[in-house]
Amino acid sequence: MGVCGKLCGFLLVIVLLLAVIIFPPTGRVLWTNIHKYAPDVVLQTEMFFSFVPIMIYCKGDYLTCVKDKWMGDYYPYAYGWDAGVGLTWQVVGGVVGQGNGPNIFSHAQYKKAAHSPTAGRFDDHFIMSNLSTLPPGVVPTEVVPAVLHMHTDNPEHKKRRTLMVDMLINIQKTPDPEKTPVKFNEIVAPPGVTNRDGGNYTLIKRTVGFNLFRWMFGVDLSVDQLTMMEEYDGTLALAVMGLFGKENIKGGETLAKIRKEIEGVIIPSNEGQKYIAGANERGMDGLNRLREVIFISMFAGYGGTGGLTTLSVAHLVGDPKNQVPLFFADTKAYMEECARFFPPVNGMNPYKVTDAFKGALSNGKEVDWPVGTFGMMSTSGANRDPAVFKDPNVFKPGRENGDRFMTFNNEYREVNACVSTADCPKAPRGCPGTHMALRLATGVMKFFAEGEKAKLDEAAVSSGQQEL
Ligand code: HEM
Repeated sequence: MGVCGKLCGFLLVIVLLLAVIIFPPTGRVLWTNIHKYAPDVVLQTEMFFSFVPIMIYCKGDYLTCVKDKWMGDYYPYAYGWDAGVGLTWQVVGGVVGQGNGPNIFSHAQYKKAAHSPTAGRFDDHFIMSNLSTLPPGVVPTEVVPAVLHMHTDNPEHKKRRTLMVDMLINIQKTPDPEKTPVKFNEIVAPPGVTNRDGGNYTLIKRTVGFNLFRWMFGVDLSVDQLTMMEEYDGTLALAVMGLFGKENIKGGETLAKIRKEIEGVIIPSNEGQKYIAGANERGMDGLNRLREVIFISMFAGYGGTGGLTTLSVAHLVGDPKNQVPLFFADTKAYMEECARFFPPVNGMNPYKVTDAFKGALSNGKEVDWPVGTFGMMSTSGANRDPAVFKDPNVFKPGRENGDRFMTFNNEYREVNACVSTADCPKAPRGCPGTHMALRLATGVMKFFAEGEKAKLDEAAVSSGQQEL
């Protein structure tokens, strides 16, 4: 019995894991029951039964597969869309920490938490890493606490967001075209890129990066600097996901070196100097405020806009015959549906619980979440909530409620109803880059869609000639 006990237990785990990987619904059932019945010590391994197998099943495709499966499939199955709140374990720097907390996945619950005027953040976190578990260089110490570390009701939070929106003309909802650092809405192809390159991930990102820094700061990065940006983005992603150990000194040095290179272009530029002066006039530390916004543009700006654009272009290039006409029929509706379907950022994570909760979840599990508990929220879940988006897994530009996606942390419809993202009581924590990110993604999409259209036209002509 002793031998069989251990061996059989081991074999059972292997069989379950194989079943979970090969056939995800098995994982869903297993994981649901673990969440419902398992004692805490087993519950702490829940990531092993969900995240890891899903990662394998999705072949590591986090952006379009893992997040959707986990938040749009596992959580709703276990807890129900009506409840919209499940349980997660605090994971910091890849290590399971103390206790459990909420994982918010429905539209209503996401909105309630992210729109709260008192929403809380941890000032020692960088998404799934803790600053104390990161090597020097990943996050510049001079900018911490950055705006994304602050509670929404911290007056400094609003002051910094207002500075950004006032000084970075192109992130405004309706910028004065006379004041933008470069020609308003113009997309310029960086060296080595043509509009026929829509199938090349690196060249799409290069186009986004090149135009992002032009639009925000009026500077032209070189191809070498844009290549460094891609390395920066890939390296930082590991830190964001909590996969960057303190011993990774070299990784921290690489990030710091690349940031210094980009700062070296932006700080002396006209827009950089204007930003410093504008912040100084408001009694802020101008240089550090500029460094904060450079850090954010290299992270959320480049990574977020790059992620949304590459996924959208891939969607179009994957089926040009249908998608090219659909895109040109209504570019706005198409890009809003892309933003709903391909959210590149998972939310305001982690957030700090500011309304204590003690009681039973929808699956009967008793929890106790005092103020200060670690919580997670998911745009991928919220954007596929069937209560708001009918047939949520269908890509349908112009759908009913198509502008209610949470991709930019607050509901786009609410953000759009305000003149400024920095002064928007009904959406107090919408991403300040929302408007520019969507305009830029649309512009880059148009650029590559024109290349795809030209290819389709050429193919039609050549097949016509063959018929003759
Ligand atoms: C498609 C592109 C983008 C997406 C999907 C996106 C999404 C988000 C999300 C979900 C958050 C909340 C995250 C958190 O607080 O941890 C956020 C915050 C933020 N984003 Fe974006 N973002 C994008 C592009 C940009 C751009 C281009 C900028 C440039 C200004 C920007 C600036 C910021 C800032 C400053 C914050 C912090 C806001 C705060 O804490 O109050 N984002 N963004």
